Amino acid sequence: MAALADTNAYRLLDDEAGGLTLDRYATDWVLSLLVAVDPRDARQAAAAVQLGTRVAAHLGERLQARSVFLKVRPRQANTLVDAKLAGLTPPRPVFGQAPTTPLTIRENAVQFGVRLDDGLGTGLYLDQRDNRRWLRDNARGLRVLNTFAYTCGFSVAAAVGGARLTVSIDAAQAALTQARANFALNGLDDAKQHDLIRGDVLAWLPKMARRGDQFDIVVLDPPSYAQVDGVRFQAARDYPQLLATALAVLAPGGRVLACINHAGVDARRFDQLLSDGVRLARRTVRSARAMPQPVDFPAGRMKAVLLEFA
Ligand SMILES: C[S@@+](CC[C@H](N)C(=O)[O-])C[C@H]1O[C@@H](n2cnc3c(N)ncnc32)[C@H](O)[C@@H]1O
Repeated sequence: MAALADTNAYRLLDDEAGGLTLDRYATDWVLSLLVAVDPRDARQAAAAVQLGTRVAAHLGERLQARSVFLKVRPRQANTLVDAKLAGLTPPRPVFGQAPTTPLTIRENAVQFGVRLDDGLGTGLYLDQRDNRRWLRDNARGLRVLNTFAYTCGFSVAAAVGGARLTVSIDAAQAALTQARANFALNGLDDAKQHDLIRGDVLAWLPKMARRGDQFDIVVLDPPSYAQVDGVRFQAARDYPQLLATALAVLAPGGRVLACINHAGVDARRFDQLLSDGVRLARRTVRSARAMPQPVDFPAGRMKAVLLEFA
């Protein structure tokens, strides 16, 4: 894959419909099994892990992997299931030797720390690689706000690309701890220039608007469902309001990179949600461009649109 030079983390097999995905993180791999398993049923869970372990052993041998971690993902998309508690994401590799954690990977010559042993997440969403690259290539001298920042993949990419300021908001302290480590891995140690805020995006955006904060690029990449401080967020319902709130901190001529990863929201529906948000905010869109999917994610569940405003 010529497009993946300087990159050692990518998807090798993308068959969510068939129930299998396989991701490389440098010398180590993650096999995900998407099955209709009831996590409350210990026998079902154990059977799924057993099947995944056998598949991982075959793949691990052929790929000469140092390790293969298994993640069994229950198909019930709209149920918040703790796969870790249900034993569906074994903390030890099901094949090979465990790497030291966090493991450092390289993406377009930017370094990130990932954890393959900690539930369903790994610390980096590989399907955002091309969008991180776009941000790196377009952030020079700009002020970037990264909402739902997780481990700050977008913010680090923007910082490497020469952003004047990055501000990242996430509710999870563990994600922000890894975020600070990710900045450091790339020699970016100025915590004032690269601010991390632990808190609720939906509370912080109005607060920032009231005090007059302005950004040239805002990244919106919320989860499909979340609950923070008792308030439920559903992307398929609440995206227009989220966009309108974010537009209150967007400088004139600014851009929003809007993403959604929701099986029930296709590209047309997402366009509609974005139009509704623009109307709510009474702003004018100068251009809207659907961002292409990375070559290793042909099924393309994640949708991203770059909106440029007057
Ligand atoms: C899908 S991940 C975001 C991925 C991230 N944009 C990236 O590219 O790495 C969702 C993140 O949103 C955070 N989150 C969910 N609801 C939130 C809220 N209301 N305020 C702040 N963070 C929130 C979670 O802690 C989690 O880290």
